Amino acid sequence: MTSNDTVIEAYELVKVYGDGHQIRALDGVSFSVQRGEMVAVMGPSGCGKSTLLHMLGALDRPTSGSVSVGGQDLRSVHDVDRFRARTVGFIFQMHNLIPTLTAFENVEIPMHGQTIRSKERRNRACELLRLVGLEGREGHFPHQLSGGQRQRVAVARALANRPELILADEPTGNLDSASGEEVMRLLRQLNEEQGTTLLLVTHDHHVARTMRRVMTMRDGRIENDYPVVDEATEDLRELARSSLGTRLPREDVAGLAGTAFVQQGTLTDDARCLAQVLRGLGP
Ligand SMILES: Nc1ncnc2c1ncn2[C@@H]1O[C@H](COP(=O)(O)OP(=O)(O)O)[C@@H](O)[C@H]1O
Ligand SMILES: [Mg+2]
Repeated sequence: MTSNDTVIEAYELVKVYGDGHQIRALDGVSFSVQRGEMVAVMGPSGCGKSTLLHMLGALDRPTSGSVSVGGQDLRSVHDVDRFRARTVGFIFQMHNLIPTLTAFENVEIPMHGQTIRSKERRNRACELLRLVGLEGREGHFPHQLSGGQRQRVAVARALANRPELILADEPTGNLDSASGEEVMRLLRQLNEEQGTTLLLVTHDHHVARTMRRVMTMRDGRIENDYPVVDEATEDLRELARSSLGTRLPREDVAGLAGTAFVQQGTLTDDARCLAQVLRGLGP
């Protein structure tokens, strides 16, 4: 049973690529995401993160299992293009802007084919470019913009049809840290002000800890799924993964990596003390 507030419901998703030598890119992935959540997806290269995003955004079909997005079971969506245009916004590592179109025209594209009047379309494209801080750059072509600015155009484009879900695949992967932080600030602001649900793949622990939930994947499965309580908890997890962590007794590592230091959603005093001590110890 899916509640109205459930934006993503994935059940036992399996994706197998290839005929002869088969690759099981997703191997039974089940999870749900509620409206307004900000979720980071992490995991080593090749563990299935992009494949998962493709399934959620109906860019490809699972081999078995089911996905519902915004209450629609993707198996029963007939007009996939329309679904994609209306319900999800994609942001990729490479901005994927069309080089021969201006920033303004790139943002307008997803609104074509929708029942939006051209005047409203133009207004909305301007408004979105203003929102991402690119007022005055409407007529610039992608090559006339910096990497960070191009990615902000991509964010504006992803928002064109007011999607309830943004799927972002390493959106800061190609950016210097200042531009990356700018794009992340923008995404968090959208989440806070407009309640847009965000599922974001990242390799960057600093980016992940600014989300509210982290899912880690390994070999096509979800390995961990935990709330980001605050930085101290994240520091403890980071420590558990570090070489110092591996020298601790197994139970202690399990404690550090788990949520044993969190009770009823808040960090215990023990955890705060420990985090402080460990930070003092250094890596
Ligand atoms: N179109 C494809 N055809 C065949 N194998 C693929 C395809 N896309 C991804 N894979 C394989 O599926 C696995 C998961 O890939 P991917 O989802 O891209 O991982 P990640 O995004 O976590 O790096 C990898 O082994 C990859 O080589
Ligand atoms: Mg990937």
